[in-house]
Formats: sequence, structure tokens, C-alpha cells
Amino acid sequence: MTLNTAHDLSEPKPILSLKGISKHFGAVAALDDINLDIYSGEVVALVGDNGAGKSTLIKILAGAHEPSSGSISFEGNEINMEKPSDALELGIATVFQDLALCENLDVVANIFLGQELNHWHMDEVAMEVRAWTLLNELAARIPNVRDVVASLSGGQRQTVAIARSLLLHPKVIMLDEPTAALGVAQTAEVLNMVERVKAKGLGVIMISHNMQDVRAIADRIVVLRLGGNNGIFTPDASNEELVGAITGATDNAVSRRAKRLAETDGAAEEEK
Ligand SMILES: Nc1ncnc2c1ncn2[C@@H]1O[C@H](COP(=O)(O)OP(=O)(O)OP(=O)(O)O)[C@@H](O)[C@H]1O
Ligand SMILES: [Mg+2]
Repeated sequence: MTLNTAHDLSEPKPILSLKGISKHFGAVAALDDINLDIYSGEVVALVGDNGAGKSTLIKILAGAHEPSSGSISFEGNEINMEKPSDALELGIATVFQDLALCENLDVVANIFLGQELNHWHMDEVAMEVRAWTLLNELAARIPNVRDVVASLSGGQRQTVAIARSLLLHPKVIMLDEPTAALGVAQTAEVLNMVERVKAKGLGVIMISHNMQDVRAIADRIVVLRLGGNNGIFTPDASNEELVGAITGATDNAVSRRAKRLAETDGAAEEEK
């Protein structure tokens, strides 16, 4: 990022800021005192083991859950979201893991799902043009926007879901496991798209269990463990550091396996 105006030289302010966010489901503390800042034009990877609270955090920011305590600021103002449309109107869009696409509808219809009457008055030509524009901005490979989603590959579906999330010009987009279940080439394409979204100046929050993807794309890696903040890392952090923060121990099943494999490799090398 280049800073070339007097205004820009001041300390950058987060677009989204969470302070002391907790969420309880009955006796379960899914999130406990989470503090997190997201800046425009950066990718923050949210990592952590199953049950760490990642999806709960995304759902709070998507207006699907209300936090039990804590505050959220967006563009410097404290906000209170009661429903998902509140988040969308503010400019916080979410691609949930299940994508929520309609198999029997075409790409255009899926991109405009739920928005036809509000914003576009069902003008098919305008909708098709806008769909192409969004997909082109992502350099997406969708052969025909009139194809039904049922005929698309996993990566193409993810593309449609990302394009849909950009429809209302959000400032922050959140992606829950966008590369899970994708092959190598499609993963690379989705990561390229995330980079394009970042280049447009959006703040991106991406949940992933794949450390390779996370390193490839994240500016910062935020680790959640048992509902709490457990470290913020740069992508050059070692696997040990990340796995240690994720599991809460430097000696764990993953590190022991890595050590065992390294020793076996070493022994094999010596035998040669
Ligand atoms: N609606 C709910 N009601 C009760 N408990 C919930 C609810 N949603 C989440 N939890 C609990 O909150 C904790 C955090 O869950 P969450 O789904 O946020 O984890 P996660 O980090 O997304 O895990 P995963 O990697 O498996 O998706 C878990 O203990 C989960 O059982
Ligand atoms: Mg989850």
C-alpha cells in the first residue's frame, strides 16, 4: 500500500474492530473476550481446531448471532447487528461454508438470489451484465452465466458464491473454508480471487484449516483456541509455532508425527 496524502500518513484505522467479544450458548463459552482488528486491503486468516469458535465469530460478524458481551465497531462507529441484513447493509458480506446456492437456478439467478426485487427489479439483461462484470473482476472461469449451478464444479460454485457476496459493494468479506474440498488447481484459482478482492481494498477474513493456503494468502494469521485469542502471527511463522498455538502445546500429536517423520527420513538418508 502506498501512503501519499497527508491524511493517509496518519495511523491507519481498522475498518472492523472487536473488543471483548464473548458468546455463550447456555453453559458453553464458544467465544471468550475476543479482541480483533481488521484493516481494509488485508487478508486475515482465522485458524483454530474444531470447536475453537471460528464459525461463531463469523456468525456474530454476519449478524446471525448476537454477542453475549463486548462491542463491535465498523468504520469507527459502534454497531449493533440484530439480523444478517444489518451486516449486509453495513457492508459486511459472508460466504458461508455451505455456499447456500440453488442447484436448479442459473449463475445469474444465484448471484441475485433474494436481491432481484430490492435492487434490480428483475431486469434480466441488467442482471446478466452485472453478473458478467462481477465474474470478470474476479477473473473467474465460468463458461456461461446461464448454466445451472448443478452443472458447475466445486471451484466454480465457490466463485459464484464469492461473486454474489460482492454484489452490494461490501467493505469486508468473510469466507468460511473457501478451499475445503477443492483440488489443487481450483484452490489456486479461489486464492487468486481472494487476492483480487483484497486488491479492491476490501478487508478479508478467511477461515481455513489448510496452513499452506493460509501462508500463501494471509497478511496476518489469528489463532483461536477454546474460544479465546491465542496469538496473531505473520505468514512466516513456523509450523511449530502455529500448531503450538492451535493445539495449546509445543509437544502435540502433529509435532510428534513431524518429528518422527524427520527422524525416519534422516535415518533413510544415512543408510544411502
Ligand atoms: N448454536 C449453538 N448452540 C450451542 N453450542 C454451539 C452453537 N454453535 C456453536 N456452539 C459451540 O460453540 C463452540 C464453537 O463452535 P464453532 O462452530 O464456532 O467452532 P469452529 O471453530 O467453527 O469449529 P469447526 O472447525 O469444527 O467448524 C463449540 O463448542 C460448539 O459446540
Ligand atoms: Mg466452523
